[in-house]
Amino acid sequence: MAQFWRPGSERPRATLVDDEEGGVLFVSAPPPSSSSGFGHSSLERQRQRLPVFKYRDAILYLVENHATTIIVGETGSGKTTQIPQYLKEAGWAEGGRVVACTQPRRLAVQSVASRVAEEMGVKIGEEVGYTIRFEDQTNPSVTVIKFLTDGVLIREMMDDPLLTKYSVIMVDEAHERSLSTDMLLGLLKKIQRRRPELRIIISSATIEAKSMSTFFQARKKDLRHAAEDSVPSHLPAVLSVEEPAGDILVFLTGQDDIDAAVKLLREDTQDDRRRTSGLLVLPLYSGLSRVDQDLVFAPTPKGKRKVVISTNIAETSLTLEGVVYVVDSGFSKQRFYNPISDIESLVVTPISKASARQRAGRAGRIQPGKCFRLYTEEYFLKEMPTEGIPEMQRSNLVSCVIQLKALGIDNILGFDWLASPPPEAMVRALEVLYSLGILDEDAKLTSPIGYQVAEIPLDPMISKMILSACNFGCSEEIITIAAVLSVQSIWVSMWGAQKEFDEVKLRFAAAEGDHVTYLNVYKGFLNSGKSSQWCYKNYLNYQAMKKVVDVREQLSRLLRRLGLALKSCEKDTQILRKAIIAGFFANSCHLEEYSHNGLYKTVRSSEEVYIHPSSVLFRVNPKWVVYHSLVSTNKHYMRNVIAIDPSWLIEAAPHFYQVRTPNLAPC
Ligand code: CDP
Ligand code: MG
Repeated sequence: MAQFWRPGSERPRATLVDDEEGGVLFVSAPPPSSSSGFGHSSLERQRQRLPVFKYRDAILYLVENHATTIIVGETGSGKTTQIPQYLKEAGWAEGGRVVACTQPRRLAVQSVASRVAEEMGVKIGEEVGYTIRFEDQTNPSVTVIKFLTDGVLIREMMDDPLLTKYSVIMVDEAHERSLSTDMLLGLLKKIQRRRPELRIIISSATIEAKSMSTFFQARKKDLRHAAEDSVPSHLPAVLSVEEPAGDILVFLTGQDDIDAAVKLLREDTQDDRRRTSGLLVLPLYSGLSRVDQDLVFAPTPKGKRKVVISTNIAETSLTLEGVVYVVDSGFSKQRFYNPISDIESLVVTPISKASARQRAGRAGRIQPGKCFRLYTEEYFLKEMPTEGIPEMQRSNLVSCVIQLKALGIDNILGFDWLASPPPEAMVRALEVLYSLGILDEDAKLTSPIGYQVAEIPLDPMISKMILSACNFGCSEEIITIAAVLSVQSIWVSMWGAQKEFDEVKLRFAAAEGDHVTYLNVYKGFLNSGKSSQWCYKNYLNYQAMKKVVDVREQLSRLLRRLGLALKSCEKDTQILRKAIIAGFFANSCHLEEYSHNGLYKTVRSSEEVYIHPSSVLFRVNPKWVVYHSLVSTNKHYMRNVIAIDPSWLIEAAPHFYQVRTPNLAPC
């Protein structure tokens, strides 16, 4: 059981909020200062100015004396960058032990790790390291502070179920309630029973920690002041506002919107007569290359105003110095899963009040700031939901179930969930895993397929596709495809230039669809000697292509480790597509209405879907297709599509499909 501050025992002065039940530490908001920021002071001075510094002793005291400590503090107060350092300074990383700090987002992992390495004056990957999927920047013999995604930590449990090398695990950004964070908390609670010396810190930016503290059985109060809700109802020409100096942070929904906005604004800023001409417009989202990330965090050049256009990643997990103005669109892109139709899609959704406050709080960290909300005050007050829905309750649970199974947790419904997942979603996940041959009739992992799938750090459908490719003799090609599908997008954004984009794609396009097209792109990249120039000429993202090569290499090593054969099918695209179907047979659709961009229906649930404009099959209208994922705006769009023969579906999954004239139907 978690423990909190107990009144009556000795405690550091004026640092804790406690009530009869126990204590939780609240770090209050940083006072806005009118200085020009931290610019000239040393890193050490900056560290000492952070609000969390005042609570250093209190935090160390709590961690020393309690198995679990919950820390609530506003974004930017120093939780993520400072607490792991305090722990190291206090000796928690001695004797081969490691302090871990998890984040839900990969980009945040990289960014905070480099910041901490900089503050400690060490090279990243040595004393301070990080691990994200397919990228390990640690050195087991010297790394003492390790940042990692919560997903990676769960994977580490497969080799080391009690996470023995860690002395303290800080689960950061817990308020985000990501699927992996929720899973991790449940698992850590189990580990704690076996390892009472393990210290857990749960840190959160909002009072959402409420459910967390009930989970760990404690009570709490919130002393932080809420953000002010001065809401101008509309904001015309937001970015040409005549406001005093200061950077602007704009919240939009996803990479596509952001790239579009960046392009528009950059065109505008090139015109000297416009008021926007002093703006330096930069995107921020998780798929961003290192070079682009660095630009976002670099100091704003003199005489310029930085405009960072971001997803909700800048809501709490990252802090941008110098932001004085925030523009909040009121939306974010969220995963939503419908267990009835078995469709998981990314949907543009109104944010919650908690998020809106967080976004507003990003303004004016170093001087009084303003937040411009692109919605009405009435909407905010009357309609906006108070809190978001935890990802656990709106996700496809396939990956979650397989990981728990691999960790030996058989009774998944009886697992200690922070928020119970919907039973329909759980049942559907079991069904899908059964149909993929990953679970047997007793809901146990099959051998070897189930265990092998669990070993591969990818979506189980992709892992199944890879394993089938080993049988079909096309694993060389399929791991290339899997690598491409695991990076955000290999194309440079061509928003607003569909015609040019179509022409570029034609250079590589394969009639079979996107997956086969990627093989052509990959071949071209290798033939060019992995040239950045070549990428530039072909509108390909060089960083993304390098990542593909890297991920592919790791997958091939993994397959060799699993004792599986790497073989090429040369040009047999039928075999290739059959391997893809072995993982993705559930995502089949047939053309319902032929038109400019035809209407398709999913076989599974007769849902209406369309081919995404980024696909090489856009406007091609093949009769039968299988897609990799769906994105939804006003319609469902299939991303990464291949044309198939419907008979292959029955061949791949006779237990899943039956033939019904004139169409196929799921059993
Ligand atoms: O975790 P929390 O939001 O409480 O704060 P943090 O991420 O530890 O950030 C504390 C301070 O470190 C921020 O206010 C920034 O001044 C600085 N920081 C930075 O300059 N660059 C980063 N990549 C991360 C943090
Ligand atoms: Mg943080």
